[in-house]
Amino acid sequence: MAQRAGLGSGRLEAVAILLLLGLFQSGMGADGAEALCGMASQARVTGGGSAAPGQWPWQVSITYDGTHVCGGSLVSEEWVLSAAHCFPREHRKEDYEVKLGADKLDSYSTEAQVRTVAQIISHTSYRQEGSQGDIALLRLSSPITFSRYIRPICLPAANASFPNGLQCTVTGWGHVAPSVSLQAPRPLQQLEVPLISRETCNCLYNINAKPDEPHFIQEDMVCAGHVKGGKDACQGDSGGPLSCPVGGLWYLAGIVSWGDACGAPNRPGVYTLTSSYASWINHHVAKLQPRVVPQIHESQPDSNLCSNHLAFNSAAAQGLLGPILLLPLSLTLGFLGAWHEH
Ligand SMILES: *[C@@H]1O[C@H](CO)[C@@H](O)[C@H](O)[C@H]1NC(C)=O
Repeated sequence: MAQRAGLGSGRLEAVAILLLLGLFQSGMGADGAEALCGMASQARVTGGGSAAPGQWPWQVSITYDGTHVCGGSLVSEEWVLSAAHCFPREHRKEDYEVKLGADKLDSYSTEAQVRTVAQIISHTSYRQEGSQGDIALLRLSSPITFSRYIRPICLPAANASFPNGLQCTVTGWGHVAPSVSLQAPRPLQQLEVPLISRETCNCLYNINAKPDEPHFIQEDMVCAGHVKGGKDACQGDSGGPLSCPVGGLWYLAGIVSWGDACGAPNRPGVYTLTSSYASWINHHVAKLQPRVVPQIHESQPDSNLCSNHLAFNSAAAQGLLGPILLLPLSLTLGFLGAWHEH
């Protein structure tokens, strides 16, 4: 299991990137943060994996001691959502900074704004890699003014249900290949990933699972990615958004949390399911009002994605069944042998 923070040297893995679908037009009425959420300002498709400036205006870069370690998502003028594992207890909040409105991390941009962190609220149930509660709220040292490049994403309400297979987009400045960090000038990368149900994801993670490294997709997690592998979030993407489009707005369906070897087959990315923390968010920041997500259509079962697992399982089962079948057979032969001696 590997978390996707860039903290420490960590091991790094593959990512390749796809481009994504068109985005929504801006230019709608700007009457308050809530009305503004989830609107991206460009309607263009880019080649490769680099996003266009302003395409994901809620994406922030979180630095520790001046180094990019994690992503995050702007959810209001002064609050950012990220992952709890990006903020180990021994780290001082004074050593973190949040960069907003950035596209290329290595280029100066007049659109970008930097804030220090006034408060970090990590979920108390987060203990270690793979545990529940990998979510954290950050309060910026002072409120930010929204622009074409800096805007909040919509928080989904507790009863939100995003259908399996919905094409969402994960974004970040994380690693792009095994042990390969994103090259200067480090443009923001985007990758389209379909949602995978928790049940199917657990099934996938059981394929060729190492007994000493159990993976369990908990109730507050959701998966997204490609079963074949090759395209995934990776180290340094942690805390960043899994943005899903519903009814013309983008919702923060998930927060990049962990995975087993970015881009490996049968190991989709695992995300903290934001909607399961709607009341936690609202409890800590009353101003943050999750938004009801219109139900576009019923979720269809996606267990077919793990059908290889069945093939694998029956092969494994045959391996196990072998000795069981051999046992009565040898007894029979033994009996026959004994019988023959007479
Ligand atoms: C979620 O709750 C709201 C009321 O709070 C309701 O209007 C909406 O229909 C519910 N959505 C679903 C998918 O149940």
